[in-house]
Amino acid sequence: MIISEDNNEKIINKNQNLAPKKQDFDMSYERNIRPKNFKDYIGQESLKKTLKISIEASKKRSLPLDHLLLYGPPGLGKTTLATIIANEMNVEIKITSAPSLERPRDIIGILMGLKGGEILFIDEIHRLSKVAEEILYPAMEDFYIDLTTGKSQTVKTMRVPVPKFTLIGATTKAGALSGPLRDRFGIIHRLEFYKDEELKEVILRSAKILDIQINDEAALEIAKRSRLTPRIANRLVKRASDWALVKHNGVITLDVAKEALDGLNIDNLGLDNTDRELLNVIAQKYKGGPVGIETLAVAIGEDVATVEDVYEPYLIQSGLLERTLRGRKITNNGLKHIGIKQNNNQMSLF
Ligand code: ADE
Repeated sequence: MIISEDNNEKIINKNQNLAPKKQDFDMSYERNIRPKNFKDYIGQESLKKTLKISIEASKKRSLPLDHLLLYGPPGLGKTTLATIIANEMNVEIKITSAPSLERPRDIIGILMGLKGGEILFIDEIHRLSKVAEEILYPAMEDFYIDLTTGKSQTVKTMRVPVPKFTLIGATTKAGALSGPLRDRFGIIHRLEFYKDEELKEVILRSAKILDIQINDEAALEIAKRSRLTPRIANRLVKRASDWALVKHNGVITLDVAKEALDGLNIDNLGLDNTDRELLNVIAQKYKGGPVGIETLAVAIGEDVATVEDVYEPYLIQSGLLERTLRGRKITNNGLKHIGIKQNNNQMSLF
């Protein structure tokens, strides 16, 4: 069973007897298509292989799994993997995120509420406050926390045990984690971008669950425009299904998929308007770069973290953008993609 903020939200809605909002439909959609075990989880083969061994070993020893850090770009399935691990270990998982653990009592409350063997999942763990981190260290290492009571001269510290648990931390920025926190994870894994063929399988699986009719070539077309990311693939197949239902007979064929994605301004590499704007700004306003990340973020009206976490990783992975010590540069492939020709360091539109 998963105890999470999502579930609380659902219970509140039920008690107030409110009609579900569109967002709730989307969230329950998402819960339904999320794989619940390794068998249904497509991709990340080497990670699955090593995780299965760690899980089996910890079951044989009747001990909780070592603390695990999952890192990589957003949308690749870090939360999904954590819930699968809980299912495979037959334990409960409590899901939270670092920004909601600001005060010492937030993290203390969660740690003291855990039962033996349970998994605590902390998303965006690089955003944990210093105090929360310091409370976590002895909890992770020796399963106790130090509680302080009183003020200045009368301050007393009490050592309180917490149940043996597994912390699964997820982050898009492994480099932003403090050394001492990173060192307390026994298992550290990076999630890789997906291959088009894997995303095609993700799309076909989700379509089946959601009763969406789609053929193989349409699924591959959507996969190719999903920025190597299953969360995006699942979103695009739903939008293509809307398009097919309203404009055609409900079936997503290759032509319908292309029409729908073109209609959403998602190009053949999966770039949206913001990605193209980012490349255009570097090419035209900054003559190809290098340009600093702050300047770039301001120029396209996004914050630095969004540019770094959401837009850049895929643009770099697809060879359209380069990160150099002096800033971001557009590559020749990037220029070609947005229709700008480079000759003798001069740029002109194709
Ligand atoms: N939905 C999102 N990610 C998935 C994955 N890796 N496998 C199957 N379905 C998914």
